[in-house]
Amino acid sequence: MTDAKREHWEAVYRTKAADSVSWYQPTPEPSLRALHALQLAVTTSLIDVGGGASSLVDRLVERGWSDLTVLDIAAPALDIAKARLGDEAAHIAWVIDDVTVWRPERRYDVWHDRAVFHFLTEPEQRLAYCHALEAGTAAGSVVIIATFAPDGPERCSGLPVQRYDAAALAADFSPAFTLERDWREEHRTPGGSRQSFQWCIFRKR
Ligand SMILES: C[S@@+](CC[C@H](N)C(=O)[O-])C[C@H]1O[C@@H](n2cnc3c(N)ncnc32)[C@H](O)[C@@H]1O
Repeated sequence: MTDAKREHWEAVYRTKAADSVSWYQPTPEPSLRALHALQLAVTTSLIDVGGGASSLVDRLVERGWSDLTVLDIAAPALDIAKARLGDEAAHIAWVIDDVTVWRPERRYDVWHDRAVFHFLTEPEQRLAYCHALEAGTAAGSVVIIATFAPDGPERCSGLPVQRYDAAALAADFSPAFTLERDWREEHRTPGGSRQSFQWCIFRKR
């Protein structure tokens, strides 16, 4: 299962331009706004789970953040981000793994996931994700997560997704995590269509 998933995502990043995929954002505005609102110190540790080739870490490095990790199942995705970052890439921890089998070796203050959890369509996959989440966070850690909303697409990158509203996400993350904030976003894809996202911020009890 993991091999098929990995091959799927590796092929995506090998065959498509990073700025042509439907989830591409020139700037990860919703994530940056959420982090800004939380008023976190630049020494705060953050992991971008399924970060792919996102420029979130580029923008955080520019702001002085110094403890950043990006995890993704697809090595080519991380290669794109590393090439773009140049020398700065050496200051970021890069992890190639499937989040549903990964065992975190440390805890992070912020767990960021944009458009990854929604690919876990089986209860046991979500449970495995939550095990990693539990192990990779401490009391007070923040989770910033975005999934397709109930009126969002049924598939992404050719794969089926599970769509969520805030209550459904809160149900999957309780009782360990408390919902602090939720909002919707209309993402404009490079092709010009709109996708409804559900964003949530949780805090670990
Ligand atoms: C829709 S893309 C979103 C990428 C990035 N978060 C962004 O917002 O630009 C989904 C990403 O999750 C990664 N991914 C999918 N399943 C994964 C898994 N089980 N473990 C780790 N990464 C995964 C993919 O390789 C891809 O980079």
